[in-house]
Amino acid sequence: MSSLQTEIEVEAEHSVADLNVVDLRKSFVAPNGDRLEVLRGVTFEAHEGESVAIVGASGSGKSTLLHLLGGLEAPDHGIVSLSGTDVSGLKGNDLSSFRQSKIGFVFQFHYLIGDLTAAENVSLPLRIARFPQASFSTQAKALLNEVGLGGRHDYPISHLSGGEQQRVALARALVTNPPLLLADEPTGNLDTSIGDEIGQILVKFVRNRSRIAIIATHNESLAGICDRVLLLEDGRVRAV
Ligand SMILES: Nc1ncnc2c1ncn2[C@@H]1O[C@H](COP(=O)(O)OP(=O)(O)O)[C@@H](O)[C@H]1O
Ligand SMILES: [Mg+2]
Repeated sequence: MSSLQTEIEVEAEHSVADLNVVDLRKSFVAPNGDRLEVLRGVTFEAHEGESVAIVGASGSGKSTLLHLLGGLEAPDHGIVSLSGTDVSGLKGNDLSSFRQSKIGFVFQFHYLIGDLTAAENVSLPLRIARFPQASFSTQAKALLNEVGLGGRHDYPISHLSGGEQQRVALARALVTNPPLLLADEPTGNLDTSIGDEIGQILVKFVRNRSRIAIIATHNESLAGICDRVLLLEDGRVRAV
């Protein structure tokens, strides 16, 4: 076992992943000058091992909510606290390093780098977060094995199917073992059966590693395998 794996496992054992979201509000100014109140007081908690689906009509604010949870945008009001760290209180380098080490993002489109291999793409977050060089490739390959791509480490992205590319994107999001995984319509671009497989891998990973996943989705079967489903409607969430 590499020293990095040891470090990650020790950290995983000791850090309790807890997400607390309190009275989150966000509005935008539309091109015609109207103020659009997208989030009007979102409050919920998620605990380690949990996968929480966020469902709601298109335009209800699911992506906006994920952006606020991951520190990509600042709320107008309210608190996002991950394992005791107030995300909206972070700025500059502190915010960047928080995002690199504590958050994994998966989007509908994979945003992988076409000229790099699967393993090179997966190891990018480790390079950016300056993890010890020696373990980049070992960690990346271990994650690719875990998402079922053991035979594809050295394939260029362009030689992989859509489902395989999304598995690589999932491995890339998970490689730093972040406490919080944010997935925005992760199966939105895939056939149902392939989307279901990816959903299963994601939920299982989060449960086994005591992480938290917040998954915005239209996919009822993906929402169905999550531990809880929250409906985002009229700017607030409620359990369904
Ligand atoms: N940067 C922005 N400026 C203005 N309006 C925005 C911006 N981002 C999102 N919106 C609006 O906020 C609403 C919610 O968007 P979004 O969070 O993408 O919804 P969902 O992901 O549920 O489809 C939409 O009406 C959208 O047009
Ligand atoms: Mg969206």
